Amino acid sequence: MMKWHVWLAVWIAFPLQAMAAEPDMSEQVPAQDKSTGPMDFIPRELTTIPAGDFGDNVRRGYELVVNTQQLKGRYVGNQLNCTDCHLSNGAKAYSAPLWAAFLAYPAFRAKDNHLDTFAERVQACFSYSMNGKAPALNSPEVVAISAYSYWMLMGGLLDKSGMTDTPVPELTDQQLQQGGNDKSFKLPGPIAQKIEAIGRRNMPGRGFATMPAAALPPAPDRGLPVYVQHCAICHGVKGEGTLMGGVPVMPALWGGDSYNWGAGMHRINTAAFFIFENMPLGKAVQLTPQQAWDVAAYINSQVRPQDPRFTGNVVSTAAAFHRGEQCFYGQTVDGVLLGNERAPAIYRAPPGQSPLR
Ligand code: HEC
Ligand code: HEC
Repeated sequence: MMKWHVWLAVWIAFPLQAMAAEPDMSEQVPAQDKSTGPMDFIPRELTTIPAGDFGDNVRRGYELVVNTQQLKGRYVGNQLNCTDCHLSNGAKAYSAPLWAAFLAYPAFRAKDNHLDTFAERVQACFSYSMNGKAPALNSPEVVAISAYSYWMLMGGLLDKSGMTDTPVPELTDQQLQQGGNDKSFKLPGPIAQKIEAIGRRNMPGRGFATMPAAALPPAPDRGLPVYVQHCAICHGVKGEGTLMGGVPVMPALWGGDSYNWGAGMHRINTAAFFIFENMPLGKAVQLTPQQAWDVAAYINSQVRPQDPRFTGNVVSTAAAFHRGEQCFYGQTVDGVLLGNERAPAIYRAPPGQSPLR
């Protein structure tokens, strides 16, 4: 029989240990073929967010997605906002929209037999994409972001079912943290059958869109001139982004103020899908697939903050967490071992001149 104080020590130590561990990323969000028919899913107007506690929570979630910088130093360690990658305030299809994401969790992660809740997935983007320290699962921030994601989903589904006058039903904080991929979460009206047929995790518009393969494997060297011509004007010659009056207006793509080596965007394929569909902002889908692959390789072969799961050794970290990924973590590019926090900056521009001239 274990003595009571041993039990107590175990009981105290266990949650502490669990808290200290970095939330894991669930498996890669699968990219979808856009030609399978988008659903024309449109969340309701923000002005229809109801008054009261639930509405306040939704509004707060919206504010946090758009201006995540208000959590800088507390939960955010870089210059980014959620909406920098989850475009149009988390509403844009094929830019990992938060409404489709809400319906996809909880999701089973085979690797460690774990059921990932929506709140845990939100935490992962804080730890990696925002290079920060994730707020707790039941924190007001995570609950608010979940409420906003749910509200976008349910309002759009009700409208799609012709139930435009039906208010979005309120959920408990607990239900919001779970997500909508559970039998207890009821889908409204005629849309329910359609969605169950394709599966709640496969709502059209979820994740990113696939794109044509390129003839040549992605290469940072070919990506440099693409970057100079199409991206540097907004994202900066050194990928540092642009600040106005101290406020980030164009997000950093690499360096200390960008996403870290554990983020989904560090993968060349994920970045290429995102870039091909969305960048250059305002005149997207003008790069050739080859250019999108190459420029994704260029930005993701630069230095960025360390993977928070770093074991102290880049080779073993790569083996443990980056196996099978299309990425440069632990690879040597231009003589520099990437992912090594001691790596010098390897920004490559024509010698002696600014690429912007
Ligand atoms: C640097 C870009 C970036 C930023 C900033 C970012 N994310 Fe993400 N997020 C991604 C990518 C890429 C994925 C898909 C990940 C993958 O495939 O591994 C993702 C996935 C997600 C998902 C799951 C999507 C799905 O369909 O399964 C949620 C939820 C999410 N992010 C929430 C957030 C929140 C909330 C914030 C702000 C606190 C945020 N993200 C900031 C890039 C970003
Ligand atoms: C007209 C300005 C502009 C141009 C040109 C542009 N971007 Fe962006 N980019 C943005 C803005 C602004 C965002 C944030 C999204 C938003 O606010 O809607 C963004 C977001 C991003 C992100 C996700 C956020 C992050 O920091 O990682 C990536 C990656 C990205 N851009 C890559 C590129 C690449 C590669 C090119 C060139 C092919 C490019 N962009 C050209 C303005 C631009």
